[in-house]
Amino acid sequence: MATEKIRVALIYGSTREGRFCDTVAQWAAVQTKKHAGFSLQVIDPADIDIPMRLQRNCAPELAALKTQLADVDAFIIVTPEYNHGYPAVLKHLIDSAYGVWQAKPVGFVSYGGLSGGVRAVEQLRQVFAEVHATTVRNTVSFMNAWEQFDRDGNLHDTDRAEQSMTMMLTQLHWWATALKQARSVQSYAEIAT
Ligand SMILES: Cc1cc2nc3c(=O)[nH]c(=O)nc-3n(C[C@H](O)[C@H](O)[C@H](O)COP(=O)(O)O)c2cc1C
Repeated sequence: MATEKIRVALIYGSTREGRFCDTVAQWAAVQTKKHAGFSLQVIDPADIDIPMRLQRNCAPELAALKTQLADVDAFIIVTPEYNHGYPAVLKHLIDSAYGVWQAKPVGFVSYGGLSGGVRAVEQLRQVFAEVHATTVRNTVSFMNAWEQFDRDGNLHDTDRAEQSMTMMLTQLHWWATALKQARSVQSYAEIAT
């Protein structure tokens, strides 16, 4: 029997005008599609009208996003670093979607200046722990990202980044498979407080 694919949502972390996120996220999407164990969905907050105020009643666009995210088994966050943190749009998406992250793994692809976005990732690990998600240890990180890609979005040095991405995806798949099986035995929502 063929093994069912892990449904993974790749989420853009920047909606900034002229963002570099398109380049990094598109590269990450191509790498993920190469992995036979995943089926990929792309979530771009720039395309979704999430209300700025957290509301008691869910707006239709947010309800649709929550349904889509609730239906996947794993997440890949593509995040830049803004002022030693991660973009506000990402926090608002995480808070707004709230329960969808529970008992699922999150992998990171980060980029930025000298730090390669690792400070953004370390902060996101704290946030995802609070919403009962588990974060994958290995990450992909692009220091001075704009120097690493050419104008067509191709990396100058493919090997190192592809190796990092493969390792992250392998760990993400392991956790996603384990947690999917565990959720099928017992609903995590029953024990999440
Ligand atoms: C508001 C802002 C703050 C930034 N702060 C940092 C930072 O603290 N560390 C860093 O390495 N790069 C920083 N940068 C550089 C960004 O990581 C870089 O511009 C990246 O391309 C931003 O992602 P985006 O183009 O997809 O929005 C900052 C950029 C912006 C716009």
